[in-house]
Amino acid sequence: MRKVRKAVFPVAGLGTRFLPATKAIPKEMLTVVDRPVIQYVVDEAREAGIEHFIFVTGRNKAVIEDHFDIQFELYDTLAQRGKTDQLDRLRALQPAPGQTSFTRQQEPLGLGHAVWCARELVGDEPFALLLPDMIMHSQESCLKGMVDLYEESGGNVVAVQECDPAEAHKYGIVAKGAEVGGGFEITAMVEKPARGTAPSNLYINGRYILQPEIFAILENQERGAGGEIQLTDAMIRLGETQKMFGFHYRGDTYDCGSPEGFVEANLAFALRRDDLREVVESVMARLAGTSRG
Ligand code: UTP
Repeated sequence: MRKVRKAVFPVAGLGTRFLPATKAIPKEMLTVVDRPVIQYVVDEAREAGIEHFIFVTGRNKAVIEDHFDIQFELYDTLAQRGKTDQLDRLRALQPAPGQTSFTRQQEPLGLGHAVWCARELVGDEPFALLLPDMIMHSQESCLKGMVDLYEESGGNVVAVQECDPAEAHKYGIVAKGAEVGGGFEITAMVEKPARGTAPSNLYINGRYILQPEIFAILENQERGAGGEIQLTDAMIRLGETQKMFGFHYRGDTYDCGSPEGFVEANLAFALRRDDLREVVESVMARLAGTSRG
């Protein structure tokens, strides 16, 4: 069993649902409370034992690379001013030298294409894929639970969650087979099923462990829904020759690619902080009475 050492973060999307905020700032750098969205996702990967972080970026995304680098002048100023707490916090979040790699997806041709752009950096080993739009909160990180399942099951692992059945047509949906370890075998997968045809209400929530054979499939993958190269289409083909397992994640997920999910994430993460809870609760209570007026 080959260990999952590397994680891919596709951050080359245009973020059109978040314009004009994302005109010059990558949506992955929008902040939830006081950390950029991408930091939450990298921390989740680190908690799962990932050793190498691969970012598939695009134009306008250089600031993501800067975020994970040392900011020498800032560190020096903080040290001189005795702000050691802040300095320690920054250092703790920073990947070690050589732990990050960046490559560019030159055109946003879809998530499948973005993943394929990481093929040389991943090489011939299984890897984790985390969509940075989705940030999670749970006792144990979603990816950690997936890695534990993978160490029992091997193959490919996809995290799923329940959605309102009436919303299933918006997601990638899986059909559930036999239980395996802490997960289950996936017997079918469908991207955005037509209303009323979804095989379950278990949707793919943006976390994957994939075998490197996905790259050869992506190389020849034709454009699918929205004229984009779809990852789910390639995973369906991978499932013809390899096992696919589902990990039923039961924590919270926030879709920070949409304004409503982003606002919810900010409130939820602020309410979990001892230093912010009280003030946020009182602001919410006050605004709740005035929002419609
Ligand atoms: P989304 O479709 O949610 O992201 O893709 P988007 O295209 O940036 O968002 P909207 O719909 O225009 O608002 C899911 C993930 O895949 C990445 C995105 O950055 C996001 O993290 N992605 C998508 C790429 O890296 N490249 C692509 O060509 C498409």
